[in-house]
Amino acid sequence: MHDDIFPVPEGTRQRSPNPLTTLDAWRAMRADAQHDPDAFWLAETRRRIAWRTPPTLGLEGSFRDIGEQPVAWFADGTLNVTESCLDRHLATRGDKVAILWEGDEPDQVRRITYAELHAMVCKAANALSDLGVRKGHRVIIYMGMVPEAVVAMLATARLGAVHSVVFGGFSSDSLRDRVIDCGARVVITMDEGLRGGRKIPLKATVDHACLGLDVQHVVVLRHTRGPVGWVEGRDVDWHQIVQPASAEHRAVECAAEDPLFILYTSGSTGKPKGLVHTCGGYLTWVSFTHQHVFDLREDDVYACVADIGWITGHSYIVYGPLANGATTLVFESTPLYPDAGRYWDMVERHKLTIFYTAPTALRTLAAAGDAFVERSNRSSLRVLGTVGEPINPGAWIWYHGVVGEGRCSIVDTWWQTETGGICIAPLAAVTPQKPGSATLPMPSIEPFLVDARGDRVRGPGSGLLCLEWPWPGIARTVWGDHERYVSTYFGQVPPYYFTGDGCRRDEDGYFWITGRVDDVINVSGHRMGTAEFESALVSVDAIAESAVVGYPHTMKGQGVYAYVVVQPGVAWTAELERAAHDSIRTSIGAHARVDCFQLVPGLPKTRSGKVMRRILRKVAEGDPSNLGDLSTLADPSVVDAIIDGALTPPNRG
Ligand code: WT7
Repeated sequence: MHDDIFPVPEGTRQRSPNPLTTLDAWRAMRADAQHDPDAFWLAETRRRIAWRTPPTLGLEGSFRDIGEQPVAWFADGTLNVTESCLDRHLATRGDKVAILWEGDEPDQVRRITYAELHAMVCKAANALSDLGVRKGHRVIIYMGMVPEAVVAMLATARLGAVHSVVFGGFSSDSLRDRVIDCGARVVITMDEGLRGGRKIPLKATVDHACLGLDVQHVVVLRHTRGPVGWVEGRDVDWHQIVQPASAEHRAVECAAEDPLFILYTSGSTGKPKGLVHTCGGYLTWVSFTHQHVFDLREDDVYACVADIGWITGHSYIVYGPLANGATTLVFESTPLYPDAGRYWDMVERHKLTIFYTAPTALRTLAAAGDAFVERSNRSSLRVLGTVGEPINPGAWIWYHGVVGEGRCSIVDTWWQTETGGICIAPLAAVTPQKPGSATLPMPSIEPFLVDARGDRVRGPGSGLLCLEWPWPGIARTVWGDHERYVSTYFGQVPPYYFTGDGCRRDEDGYFWITGRVDDVINVSGHRMGTAEFESALVSVDAIAESAVVGYPHTMKGQGVYAYVVVQPGVAWTAELERAAHDSIRTSIGAHARVDCFQLVPGLPKTRSGKVMRRILRKVAEGDPSNLGDLSTLADPSVVDAIIDGALTPPNRG
């Protein structure tokens, strides 16, 4: 374990405009929030957010009572989040670039100022309003990374409607489930997405997903101008309705606790959960964390290369940066197109100062060789962030030394879809860093660890990561299923919030996230439920049973290892394997793929029928010794067969 400490680089610390410059001041701020959270967050939110009615109430409710009543922050305040992200910047930042877009081809660049973005959002809001979108309605957004996708999110929010962005890699079945679950009547999409020169048929996927559903309008942005099907009366052309619309629009006033968006994420069952984030607390949280963690400055050119289909894109491409009046990059392409130097060329082209990506991309780019990095001038960079999975110290050191030339702070940010924004991370200008550690928590994030017996771990040690106290950014519920929200997050270590992650705390109180301890796997920063894979596999007729586990993968973080049991008399053929792959692609999406199938005679089940996944994980990891207590298994001989037939999956680390 690398326990070296990297002090904040001088260049990063110097001239920071932010009031926080020392670790002691940061600790004092945390203490303030702990001592009087209401006063602390009311002061923060009044400074950060353009409220119509400034709130007087801080936190209401508690984790203990969350079954009866979701927690609320700033409940008597009213606002429209787009006024904080757009209108209030017009006077001071109207001509500042809000969105810097780089298309799939490196020479495609658009710069959209705050004044222009405001006008685009007003027009789109008027157009959506004409289609009948009203406060509280749900709108699905299924688009690639173009500025209009951000406009669609903000226009929806401006009407007080609720967006649910679905990542463009999801299949039509996944999209359909989400349209149905949230009851969307309007879907916004585009003809085709573009990634690395490949076209992604978004509109065709929407058409398939919406068959037979009560979707009143599909709004289609023409991007590639490729041919698409058209349903008369239902489909409308984005430009045809947006262009002629008025550029003036009075934003709809919302209560602080009105829903802003629903974002689906995988859990330990087959059905994704629609986490609900609300207006006031969420915006306060992403504004606070975006400013402090990245040490944001007025002239920064900030780039987060995630996709808006994930929470990282919501919080740190759209809402956090725009609330803070920053220039934020929207990047359509991939890190490998046209070659492995794309990110670093982009740094030089736009003089990026802050760059935020996932460890999986860093591992891939490091493997491509340093020449791809070194050919570009990276002297503009000051802060480098990572998110989505644990970063191995090797990748951290490469990011710091090769990409950042030792000059930049590395901020390893731990958080989740459910937490709304960053929870544990260094402050770029303040916190000494250790490769592989997300370091210290934000104000009102009170982490604690519990051991296998359910006891709290005091001092240095390892355990399950839980959070003690509600913070403003926490998701308030699961759409349409508050009981599931309560049992998933507050039922495991009651009454506290259970993250699903394992974690170690060291002698300095630094946190080291070790990864999921539940049935969620993280492949290339994409969160997927093993149960989703399993249900896709058993929907293939010839497959009787399956169990899917993750294994450590040198590039992707985790790979996917599937154990399958076939129906009697059926052989595992190349054709059947193809059918298995197809079924997963159809039911989840192209980003979900099994790396390795092992045919087994049966799954290791207890006498009560529960699959002992621990055994399957150990075998997939290549560590079948020490499987622990097997005495409760119904048929222990299955384990020998599993070990004998074990495969070495690709890139096992
Ligand atoms: C899970 C949440 C956070 C936005 C993107 C992913 C893992 C996230 C880190 C990190 C170690 C991390 C955790 C977490 N994770 N960031 N810095 N170090 N692990 O959001 O899809 O909701 O996934 O990602 O396992 O629980 P998500």
